[in-house]
Amino acid sequence: SGVTIAIDGPAGSGKSTVSRRVAEVLEGGILDTGAMYRAVAWACLEGGVDLADREAVAAVAETLELELGTDPAGATVVVAGTDITGEIRTERISTQVSAVATNTLVRAILQRRQRELMLATAAERGSCVAEGRDITTVVAPDADVRVLLSASEDERMRRRAAELSLDETEETRARMSDQVLRRDRDDATVSEFFTAADGVTSIDTTGLGIDDVVVRILALVDR
Ligand code: C5P
Repeated sequence: SGVTIAIDGPAGSGKSTVSRRVAEVLEGGILDTGAMYRAVAWACLEGGVDLADREAVAAVAETLELELGTDPAGATVVVAGTDITGEIRTERISTQVSAVATNTLVRAILQRRQRELMLATAAERGSCVAEGRDITTVVAPDADVRVLLSASEDERMRRRAAELSLDETEETRARMSDQVLRRDRDDATVSEFFTAADGVTSIDTTGLGIDDVVVRILALVDR
């Protein structure tokens, strides 16, 4: 048992920061499911596996020796003893991870692993906040709390630039816009990420501070 909280949203919706804060307040664990797709992409590139080879990538996803830290204060990603926490956030991975995330064989495998990890973490730490794109719908449709975050395109680009500590010049704005829109498009092929399923609470975070969003989510948690 333990409280399960599912948070979905697109890149730049504030998902990661919000999830971490909610987990901190609850003194529970987190599960960053995007990190798992990134870890598979990293392992494939590292091992010379062609990302277009669906079966080969699925085999990597199935056998990957993955250790995910569930501490919100610093969730590490370790593959077969190598810490790749920083490495999986690089542009090299960000630009190629969609090939992994759109592989339906991989999705089935990771969704199953995510479900197990979420329940184990909730049982062990009292609660688990899992964030991603399909947590409210596929990984944990029976979670205690389910939330879909959204934000205007403009706001998401601003946050993405801030995340990367870039100055808001015209050039970086154009690059961010490019990246965010490409990710939206790539992601849209995976499922209906941007519409809330039945029973899922939708929160538009445009113009809201992180703490406002955290308070709203905590209000949904029966404590
Ligand atoms: O959230 P993040 O940018 O780390 O996600 C990495 C990639 O994995 C993105 O392409 C995202 O669409 C995909 N993803 C997914 N399902 C999830 C989490 C992430 O398809 N549950």
